[in-house]
Amino acid sequence: MRPSSLVVVANRLPLDDNIAPDGACEWRRSPGGLASALHAILQQTPATWVGWSGAIGPSPKLPSIGSLRLRPVTLTEQEQSGYYEGFANSTLWPLYHDAVQQPVFQREWWETYRAVNQRFAEAAAEVAGRHAAVWVQDYHLQLVPQMLRELRPDLLIGFFMHVPFPPPELFMQLPRRIELLVGMLGADLVGFQREQAGHNLAQLAQKLLGAEATDDAITVGERTVRTGAFPVSIDVAEMRALAARPDVVGQARQLRHDLGESKRILLSVDRLDYTKGIEHRLTAYRELLRDGHVKVRDTVLVQVAVPSRERVDSYRDLRDRIEGEVGRINGEYGRVGEPAIHYLNQRFDRSLLAALYQAADVMVVTPLRDGMNLVAKEFVAAREDETGALVLSEFAGAAAELSAAFLVNPHDLDDLKQTLLRAMEADPADLSARMRAMRAHLAEHDIMAWARAYLTALDHTGRLARRLP
Ligand code: UDP
Ligand code: G6P
Repeated sequence: MRPSSLVVVANRLPLDDNIAPDGACEWRRSPGGLASALHAILQQTPATWVGWSGAIGPSPKLPSIGSLRLRPVTLTEQEQSGYYEGFANSTLWPLYHDAVQQPVFQREWWETYRAVNQRFAEAAAEVAGRHAAVWVQDYHLQLVPQMLRELRPDLLIGFFMHVPFPPPELFMQLPRRIELLVGMLGADLVGFQREQAGHNLAQLAQKLLGAEATDDAITVGERTVRTGAFPVSIDVAEMRALAARPDVVGQARQLRHDLGESKRILLSVDRLDYTKGIEHRLTAYRELLRDGHVKVRDTVLVQVAVPSRERVDSYRDLRDRIEGEVGRINGEYGRVGEPAIHYLNQRFDRSLLAALYQAADVMVVTPLRDGMNLVAKEFVAAREDETGALVLSEFAGAAAELSAAFLVNPHDLDDLKQTLLRAMEADPADLSARMRAMRAHLAEHDIMAWARAYLTALDHTGRLARRLP
């Protein structure tokens, strides 16, 4: 593979394969916000993406994506379990999301996490040209920046954390906390979604490493690492174009027809993850039905719950609980041919999502904690008609930007119920004023603006930002 001057390293490649029932392999975009965001920028940029294909053992033959080259890292069954399902998604993920689910720590996971991080660092070192920039992504690869620095001191190394970075009280619970901190601080620039995360890192570096830290720089020994907030976004133009496509508009109309022309449609789209607050939302909806504030004959909830991390016990248990609750609500409140909730445990392509976003009256995005939440931004971008309400958790990174949404504390059931009702009953003029404000913000802060801001901060000469389309 030819050396690249820009390398992205992320746990997942932006594509994974889907084996059709007839055995044919088709490629689709990987789940989640990280893949959505970076896919949008990189398909038009000469760069290499180092990542895992999601399969066990040797990687299937990968297609290239425009000018983006893919460099697979393979994982064994034991590595998938110890590194991905174990340390990344059973220890770090819950801890970084306010421990809304009890983090689990098994000592043997650590060695696997370290070894897999080393493999990613070696793969990046191999494809990066001299003085290239390597942009490492997310909590799976927190040791890579320092490992890479040791392998290739000539590189410019960036790290971006897509998920929240927790306050010291929580981070301090982590076994191996010092290694994790030193790993991240191997970068030249550590980027977060929100400023608070930078303060958290600064406090931790002072406390655990005796570093000197200000709001935007941490000095450990000889090196100074810069930090900053760079809220990630979406490809606004792509979503607008998708939403305007005649087939998508037609599909949105059809969805409205199928769900009931006169009905108020509530929509939620989440990976099936305990951070997304799906259970709290279902409880609020059940109580609204019970209290008679919402009636099945005039309102329906569509819940898309994309399968995620299905081999992790807490995710399997969550799915059982959610499906039990949806069944109970439909059993109790549904009518023949008229369920209270349409529940879809499937991953959809972007055109169907764009149609759903347009068909909805109220988009309900109520995570208990979320680094950003791109679904909220996609909904806003899809609403060319400037109608529709967004109910948004204060605990999603997106709330800092979309302050014209109906903001809610999803931990407070009464607030959740009242806010849902307020959004359902809002005056259309109020809704369009809110939607206009949010769309104006997004127009200025799209995915390109994010990448430019980060890459310009990483490399003041502007060399990297100029490579973007
Ligand atoms: N998404 C998708 N198909 C689906 C549901 C979601 O492609 O059926 C995409 C969605 O469009 C968004 C991303 O997955 O770009 C979810 O990102 P978000 O930041 O909301 O949450 P995450 O999954 O990263 O926690
Ligand atoms: C979040 C994480 C990403 C991850 C995505 C999907 O957005 O920040 O790093 O890729 O969830 O999760 P998965 O485990 O399927 O990669």
